[in-house]
Amino acid sequence: MPIVWTPLVSIEVLGFLIASIALYRLWFAPLARLPGPPICAITRLTLMYHEFSGSRRLFIHGLHMKYGPVVRIAPNEVSFATRQAMKEIYTSGGSGYDKTSFYSLFQHFGTKNMFSTLEKDEHAAVKKQFAERYSKLHVMKPDVSSVIQQTVDAFVTRATEHVGASVDIYDLLHCFGLDGVTGHLFSPSGLHSQTNDDDHELMKQLAYPSDLKRAYFRYYFPTLWWVYERLTGINKLRGDTNLIDAYVLEMFHSGSVDPQTVLHKLRIVDARDPGRPMLLSVSECMDHIIAGIDTTSDALCFLMHHLSLPIPASRRVQEKLHEELVRNPGNSVDDLPYLDAVIKEGLRLLSPVTMSFPRVVPDGGRAVDNVQLPGGTIVSCQPYTLHRFDTEVFPDPDEFLPERWLAANGAVERNQLFFTFGAGGRGCIGRHLALLEMKLLVRDVYSTYRTRVAPDMTASMEPDDQVISTRPKDQKCLILFERLDV
Ligand code: HEM
Repeated sequence: MPIVWTPLVSIEVLGFLIASIALYRLWFAPLARLPGPPICAITRLTLMYHEFSGSRRLFIHGLHMKYGPVVRIAPNEVSFATRQAMKEIYTSGGSGYDKTSFYSLFQHFGTKNMFSTLEKDEHAAVKKQFAERYSKLHVMKPDVSSVIQQTVDAFVTRATEHVGASVDIYDLLHCFGLDGVTGHLFSPSGLHSQTNDDDHELMKQLAYPSDLKRAYFRYYFPTLWWVYERLTGINKLRGDTNLIDAYVLEMFHSGSVDPQTVLHKLRIVDARDPGRPMLLSVSECMDHIIAGIDTTSDALCFLMHHLSLPIPASRRVQEKLHEELVRNPGNSVDDLPYLDAVIKEGLRLLSPVTMSFPRVVPDGGRAVDNVQLPGGTIVSCQPYTLHRFDTEVFPDPDEFLPERWLAANGAVERNQLFFTFGAGGRGCIGRHLALLEMKLLVRDVYSTYRTRVAPDMTASMEPDDQVISTRPKDQKCLILFERLDV
């Protein structure tokens, strides 16, 4: 008897199809035997809900605490919490697995850059063009580090100019981060947002807007985003960023830069290949500005706020830091072990980059930490969990304990699990610059000043997740600077 196609039959067929897919994903798919909530095995909607509401990191961390080091977080996605998995995903063959299309979100001027390049061989070719400008050797050269030292001097001057008045270090540190990275890219034409009102306005356009929902909307619904773009004319993740666009383009057309800068290097690359679209280098520099501003600034903001809390543990850390700094005034920042430990513990516990870095298992499949996965599976680790999960490596993981980094015992394991800058060939290219900025600033503040949370500080410092990075929720942090008798 022929089937009579009524609305009821359509609903039944649809229901049958959905039920079949759900049962397949739950019991028969290659990932079916992995631990995780059944709902995550059936549909991605749960993970999407947490992504759009900014709770992906805590959701995944909670799943690891419940199910263990391997968790299926969506039908086709697995999260890991071990250093073996981290090594395989991010460092096998040098750069680990290719990135997912999620990273295409980070193009600028409609053009790819190193960070948004998905495929690892293409990425390696781009990186080779200018990686030397971010090497430790280069960053520590006097004519390069002096640019950062000037931004540190400007910070200390601004933060301490009105003794006894509270200072919003969230704002000032974002100026510091912007001036530092633009100095590294374009010196002497870097920005001076700590002292110049126009540049300060530019910092506000970059650092304050929220891009989380837009980014996920664009990732999951590219066609709807395309329509939205056409209707509203908005085609950027961060909304109105005209000032920074204009500044970066101006640097390319007429900016005079020193030979040690990143732009100088990119100009050599462009000159060697006249057919190379200029927007490749423009997009590259824009990406470094965005990668360099929130990360370093928020890391310092979380750290200085923690050190300023009215609790004995924080006061003790400030005292020990001050003691080391005044006892060794001539030491390089790399020769101050307690300073190093404080910065590292800040980056572990109060990291500004906490969320997963998604990668795709190559064709043919791979074993990740002894778990066999088919090609195309999305895999990742997140710093927030790697920095807390293994309590033998990080005992009392939620405590701020710089001393843990000074113990010889377990140093290898701690360093292997330290994931704030990612790992392998696709880890942070700016890490030496960021560490120099952080160490110089913390050294110059705590060798001469004590900091306290200001009495009028009511803003929340809760970590608020953005697309990859995490910032203080209320984007405000009022601190008092008190001069110490040195
Ligand atoms: C505390 C500060 C910083 C942290 C925690 C941080 C963290 C990271 C992480 C985790 C990645 C890899 C992400 C992934 O694998 O998906 C990354 C990549 C990157 N970072 Fe940073 N970063 C910081 C500062 C900086 C600075 C100052 C710059 C300045 C240029 C910078 C530029 C970049 C770039 C260009 C990439 C892409 C590297 C590539 O694709 O090979 N970062 N960063």
